[in-house]
Amino acid sequence: MASPLERYAELKTAADATYAGWRTPQRPRIDVAIDTSSLANGARATRDAIEANISERNAVVDLGRVHGYGMQWLHPLVTITFPDGASVVYGPVRAEHAALIVDIATGAKPATSTLAIGTIAGERAGIPSLREHPFFALEPKTGRRLIHRLGFTDPENLDHYIATGGYHAAARMLDRHQSPAQVRQELIDSALGGRGGGNFPAGTKWNFLATAPGEEHYVICNADEGDPGAWVNRVIMEGDPHLLIEGLIIAAYATGSKGGFIYIRDEYPLAIARMEQAVRQAQEAGLLGEGVFGTEMNFELRVIRGAGAYVCGEETGLISSIQDSRGMPRVKPPFPAGAGVFMKPSNVNNVETYANAPMVIEHGAQWYLEYGTERMRGTRLFSFSGDIQRVGFMEIPFGVPLGGVIEACGGMLPGLQLKAIQSGGPLGSMLPAREVPNLSMENAPFSALDALMGGGGIVFLSDRICTIHMAEMFTQFVEEESCGRCTTCHGGNQRQTEIIRRTIAGEGRHEDRHNLALIDRTLQFSNCVHGQFSPKIVRNTLRFFSDEYERHSAGRTCDALECEGLIRFRITNQGDPRLAEAQDICPVAAITGTPGRRTLDEAACIRCGACTDVAPNAIVREAKPATPRLVALS
Ligand SMILES: Cc1cc2nc3c(=O)[nH]c(=O)nc-3n(C[C@H](O)[C@H](O)[C@H](O)COP(=O)(O)O)c2cc1C
Repeated sequence: MASPLERYAELKTAADATYAGWRTPQRPRIDVAIDTSSLANGARATRDAIEANISERNAVVDLGRVHGYGMQWLHPLVTITFPDGASVVYGPVRAEHAALIVDIATGAKPATSTLAIGTIAGERAGIPSLREHPFFALEPKTGRRLIHRLGFTDPENLDHYIATGGYHAAARMLDRHQSPAQVRQELIDSALGGRGGGNFPAGTKWNFLATAPGEEHYVICNADEGDPGAWVNRVIMEGDPHLLIEGLIIAAYATGSKGGFIYIRDEYPLAIARMEQAVRQAQEAGLLGEGVFGTEMNFELRVIRGAGAYVCGEETGLISSIQDSRGMPRVKPPFPAGAGVFMKPSNVNNVETYANAPMVIEHGAQWYLEYGTERMRGTRLFSFSGDIQRVGFMEIPFGVPLGGVIEACGGMLPGLQLKAIQSGGPLGSMLPAREVPNLSMENAPFSALDALMGGGGIVFLSDRICTIHMAEMFTQFVEEESCGRCTTCHGGNQRQTEIIRRTIAGEGRHEDRHNLALIDRTLQFSNCVHGQFSPKIVRNTLRFFSDEYERHSAGRTCDALECEGLIRFRITNQGDPRLAEAQDICPVAAITGTPGRRTLDEAACIRCGACTDVAPNAIVREAKPATPRLVALS
């Protein structure tokens, strides 16, 4: 019977041939980046237009797909790979550029074009290497580790994964009869920490499961990624789905698990589709199911579509949801290693945590330790968004300064100043720009400020944002997403939201600060972290944006002109033809009248701002004149 490495070699030989034909194709190939961010930026229309152009002209060009490279502000991205193996990335490529792209691919036009961003393989005179782009300045000099396949493989092709070294770590682990304990020790030595935000050592957690009683153990992947501004798990699942599967095979072997679940949030349809497809491919290739790589290891892996609730990201809520029960966190202990899915011992890790395991097993703990800091080892994927010039994701070593990140992202959009950074999602934090010099990309400096770095997403907020308005958005979200099990959480969050909402409505009260602090203290008694962390953003706002809070509450002004109760809209130019459009778009018909005689009814207006968006020269958004306040008679 063939050993796992012999089986792997067979798969690899076939995969190498397929991949070589793809890397250095006989005919030029145009790969459109197909991932959620690209699709949201019109990649489907770009692809359709290129396809139509190729067929109209009968061009000798193939069409393929890759995952984007991280430069999401330049989406839709397109890569042309020429028969000599050179690959050039172009963007943003819109449908109207289809003919140009096909011309470049066929050689009718030079590869240099204003749309050319850089080469990712080979050379083309006049086009720099993509790695020289300042956006990648903070990535490891020796190249990407976790996401090295992005842009270089078709994520839907198992052969591409295998040809680029995929599944070798799992095959070798099984072939060498490396014991589960040795695998866990390698993980412990690598100091790989949980990427869900807590940085809990993955190897130690795997030990809990491995040593738990009973035969029926499960590994569970938390892919519920719900924080706004965080999409790093999605990148892994859409860009390199087999990496996650290989990580789960390693975890299953190390913990003696025969079953596994990948719980993916409902809002990630492409990630779900790609993961389901990859699981099928792995099953057909004998890498999952009965007899993994021809060994005695059995491992059934299932993809579960999430229930669409934020709190299902909390591990016990997630377990409950997998069982088809309502997604409600429960009190811990028992922890999942004691009583997990179907009350059986289970291990829950984040997508990126599992996805790091093949690297650790392939290259060893020492290799893994090369990057990062004393407290947080390795590299991690971050997504950066907000009012910055370059929105996208990058893989950076822990510990790089946040100031360097802002530089790599090209700084703020023209005319805007950085005001705050939001990290860790709705249970996370909001820190002012003045703290940026004190922050590096690891948990400790954030914790020192009572903040959270979180699960990989950082949003840069400019001075056009009102932090109290932002806090209201988060408090409302956390209130709605409270599972309702404990009164402390759902009642406390209702009260917190009421106060913040009243503040932005221009009705802040002197006693609000005191009451918010009281609610904060009470919420610490919630059953789970959802309730316990829910007052964090408000607490940050009161501490770091105290002046702004006071101006809302006592001064009745919102400097950013965002808070509904403190602003109004006024028609200033009756002659502007766009007023008609503004009148049409108003969802509550607050603008009435005929050309030259239009009026805006302040009482009916809901301050959505749609009118001034379409007619910026005719309608102003301004501070509402102060109304006299009742003063107690002495
Ligand atoms: C309300 C709430 C939502 C959470 N959402 C996620 C999530 O989307 N992804 C995640 O990995 N962890 C999330 N967590 C943390 C998980 O409970 C758990 O700690 C994590 O999946 C462990 O994985 P790790 O050790 O690999 O970090 C959430 C926690 C809470 C309280």
